[in-house]
Amino acid sequence: MDPADLDDDPLCQLGRWVEEARGAGEELPEAMCLATVSGDGIPDARMVLMRGLDHGVVFFTDYESAKGRELALNPCAASVFHLPHPVRRQVRLRGTVDRVTPEESDRYWMTRPAASRRSATASHQSTVIESRAVLEAAVASLGDAEPARPARWGGFRITPFTMEFWEEGRARLHDRVRFDRDAEGWRSARLSP
Ligand SMILES: Cc1cc2nc3c(=O)[nH]c(=O)nc-3n(C[C@H](O)[C@H](O)[C@H](O)COP(=O)(O)O)c2cc1C
Repeated sequence: MDPADLDDDPLCQLGRWVEEARGAGEELPEAMCLATVSGDGIPDARMVLMRGLDHGVVFFTDYESAKGRELALNPCAASVFHLPHPVRRQVRLRGTVDRVTPEESDRYWMTRPAASRRSATASHQSTVIESRAVLEAAVASLGDAEPARPARWGGFRITPFTMEFWEEGRARLHDRVRFDRDAEGWRSARLSP
């Protein structure tokens, strides 16, 4: 990887690598590990799907889930995309997090199949439930309804201030390029692997 071949905008570069991985057969290149920090400073991490890529990285979730609560307290996150065989790449980012507009969440909600919308409506993510049967009964009680988006469900956008592109090299001499954003825009530097 030559830093000169990377896009000046690392968000565009992320989109390129995700699509190259998809083209190479990766089934879910938009899956990313999302790390947040709880109020008492303990990190937490889980997978989510990138559902939008513009001046930030957008994912959708339950605002009242553990991650939603953590982001309300500390609106910063780190994410990692692992794009394994055959491209052998990793993209890391850290940034500030905001809710997307209700209109953006509504638009995405309407792209989901009705059954998924019913499941998201019935499931209060990260709360303790008595059994799977209780959850299934809550979904069944909605019948064939096409529920409107619950206010507690929507998108977050991570606006990165740093991003790092890693590509496997021969004999452990991997390539790493980090982008940092300042008032003038993005600057990149090569890092030792
Ligand atoms: C590949 C994959 C993709 C996932 N995508 C999402 C997602 O986009 N949004 C979401 O809320 N949970 C997603 N999940 C479930 C989360 O990993 C997690 O279990 C859930 O969001 C609750 O996390 P929390 O209790 O830390 O808030 C996904 C899980 C996997 C394995």
